Amino acid sequence: MSTLKNKVVAVTGATKGIGKGIAKVFASKGAKVAVLGRNAADGERCVAELVASGGVAKFYVSDVVDEAGMAAVAEKVASDFGGLDILCANAGVFRACKFEEMTQKEWDAVFDTNLKGMFLSIKACLPLLKKSSAGRVVLTSSITGPFTGYPGWSHYGATKAGMLGFMRTAAIEFAKYGITVNAVLPGNILTEGLQGLGQDYMNAMASSIPLKRLGTVEDIGYAAAFLASEEAGYINGHALIVDGGQILPESVQALEAA
Ligand SMILES: NC(=O)c1ccc[n+]([C@@H]2O[C@H](COP(=O)([O-])OP(=O)(O)OC[C@H]3O[C@@H](n4cnc5c(N)ncnc54)[C@H](OP(=O)(O)O)[C@@H]3O)[C@@H](O)[C@H]2O)c1
Repeated sequence: MSTLKNKVVAVTGATKGIGKGIAKVFASKGAKVAVLGRNAADGERCVAELVASGGVAKFYVSDVVDEAGMAAVAEKVASDFGGLDILCANAGVFRACKFEEMTQKEWDAVFDTNLKGMFLSIKACLPLLKKSSAGRVVLTSSITGPFTGYPGWSHYGATKAGMLGFMRTAAIEFAKYGITVNAVLPGNILTEGLQGLGQDYMNAMASSIPLKRLGTVEDIGYAAAFLASEEAGYINGHALIVDGGQILPESVQALEAA
């Protein structure tokens, strides 16, 4: 993945969690990292950590549901760093709400950030990615939706499966520009967002994973960095599961029998 050196990458939702892990891995590989998000304090903290480790990074306050704002931020990133090669469309929310309690407002809030936000991020960055010799889009989907279900996340799962539906056509449409579109599908990754679901949830999840641990944000960062590298240039429209084998057991017995 030496080909990431000096590449310019924009990571949405990089102020914390998985996005911050993605930003850290790209910075460690010599990429110039644009940290995108709404929370300026978290964003500046992330940039300070990346710079302290020898990386090149800058924070851009941005909301993925603001079309004009995202377009302006993408232009600013390209003007600051001399172009844009990679977009990691990672920002997302996973507020739990069971179907019978779900209102249209709740449904729309999750769809707005996770799906429309992905669309607007790509829309803003595509004109700049087209100028790169190896443009890349890496989506953060999930195992929830494409492969699994969990009570409270019907709307969330629909958005994460929807991202893959989007990817398969975008990968065809963008191929003429040499841009690939791929997705990472995290399992249960230890982030601030996941910690908010409580220790009982995290313990139950860790015990249901063959590797018996939650993932780290760097586990996802390495997968995203690989898909964004020039070495992965012939991989297009692929969904890469990074879950410690969580979706593999057919039953609880299958896990225990090992
Ligand atoms: N953690 C897991 O186990 C897991 C598993 C599968 C998939 N995922 C996916 O991974 C991605 C990141 O999740 P996470 O666990 O890292 O969550 P997190 O710790 O809650 O972080 C979410 C990030 O998204 C940003 N964000 C949320 N709404 C935004 C908006 N409207 N505009 C811009 N940024 C926004 C937040 O930044 P600001 O608050 O600064 O705006 C924050 O940086 C999501 O797409 C999620 O679905 C997570």
